[in-house]
Amino acid sequence: MKTPDTHTLRDYDQKYVWHPFTQMRDWAAEEPIVIERGEGSYLIDTDGNRYLDGVASIWTNVHGHCRAEINDALKKQIDRLEHSTLLGLANDQSAILAKRLIEVAPPGLRKVFYSDNGSTAVEIAIKMAFQYQRLKGGNSTVKTKFISFRNAYHGDTIGAVSVGGIDLFHGVFRPLLFPTILAPSPYCYRCESGGTGDDACERFCLKELERLMRTHGEETAGLVIEPLVQCAGGMVVQPPGFVKKVRELCDQYNILMIADEVAVGFGRTGSMFACEREGVTPDLMALSKGLTAGYLPLAATLATQEIYDEFLGDYSELKTFFHGHTFTGNPIACAAALASLDLFEKDTLLESLAPKIAFLEERLLELRHLAHVGNTRQLGMIAGIELVLDKKTKTAYPWEQRLGVRVCNEARKHGLFLRPLGNVIVVFPPLSITMEELEFLLQGIKEAIRAVTGE
Ligand SMILES: Cc1ncc(COP(=O)(O)O)c(C=O)c1O
Repeated sequence: MKTPDTHTLRDYDQKYVWHPFTQMRDWAAEEPIVIERGEGSYLIDTDGNRYLDGVASIWTNVHGHCRAEINDALKKQIDRLEHSTLLGLANDQSAILAKRLIEVAPPGLRKVFYSDNGSTAVEIAIKMAFQYQRLKGGNSTVKTKFISFRNAYHGDTIGAVSVGGIDLFHGVFRPLLFPTILAPSPYCYRCESGGTGDDACERFCLKELERLMRTHGEETAGLVIEPLVQCAGGMVVQPPGFVKKVRELCDQYNILMIADEVAVGFGRTGSMFACEREGVTPDLMALSKGLTAGYLPLAATLATQEIYDEFLGDYSELKTFFHGHTFTGNPIACAAALASLDLFEKDTLLESLAPKIAFLEERLLELRHLAHVGNTRQLGMIAGIELVLDKKTKTAYPWEQRLGVRVCNEARKHGLFLRPLGNVIVVFPPLSITMEELEFLLQGIKEAIRAVTGE
């Protein structure tokens, strides 16, 4: 069948597709870009226009688009087996991948439970933590609550939304959710204590977290955290030592630590996993996005031996973890993940990141001089540029002005595809981006900010 032209494709899209996180009335008034190809760091539309993928196709892409090695692995796998269930069967790809994941994961994580997106990986961790405490018995049976952070994002299914903390997204669903014990976000630029800088956060956030644990620890099953960076909350980077301290507090109050590495995992922070940077092993860890290098929906929840063992028993004891998804352990997705892990080694990808991270840091410092850049924050290959109406007072642009959206639309004129988080411009390119491309990306962002803020 001949592919319809751009005009017809736009028409189909606007008539039939309901887009995520999108006001569809606005969308219907636009002329959407229709992507049909990818090449390295670039997305290419049906008219042949090239856009540098500045957000790695929503934080998933690792080795660039259409990498020959991953494509070949997928083609090989498709000719052998497209899918077989993990209910009652094993498959070769998911078994090999589980072994490889445990080899690269923080030490102490021993088991891999597959699902197919970041939200389900978090849901599974929450349910495992809850059931684990039940199974442990004794005092643990009253451990039914969860600690979560304000400004956190863990996905859009009901459990994941329950542990989320972004009212703009989550407020309307509040009546459907289970309540959590909410800890302050370690958002230093807008510290809840009114202080400024990492010091204030150290004193305030962690003290408050400890106070909550002291009060609610006995009834708390687990704590859910995006380690090192609250991504959807505006690329909010936690002060050094924060995650380590959270781990210590969890140990002290006998609370399971659930690390949601859906966005920060697989090299994004400069290490394979964010927790590694603080020498921390969580009790449960959620992975997705970069797991298949952005190729296919696959997720994994990793657990310690101790958690796994608690679920073992006689069939009649009903200790089984009653949870599963149809495409659990899909062999094609697992083959993509295996090919991605091979590429980490072949390209010595983690080792290659240092100069890119340093260059990004340098350019962000320059951006701070712009009149409406209130704050820049970075960790590894993640950055957020927060635009403000007034730098001195940190007054935010009113959300109706859609400033972030306008900057990202302007950036298209510079050959970039970006997606903001409110007034925060996100820098989250494929890790394989070249230095020249990174320069092109940051220059385009600077010019777009200047054009839109009228500087
Ligand atoms: C930290 C984190 N957890 C969970 C999710 C949800 O992942 P998914 O969109 O695949 O359900 C996201 C998505 O952005 C995320 O950033």
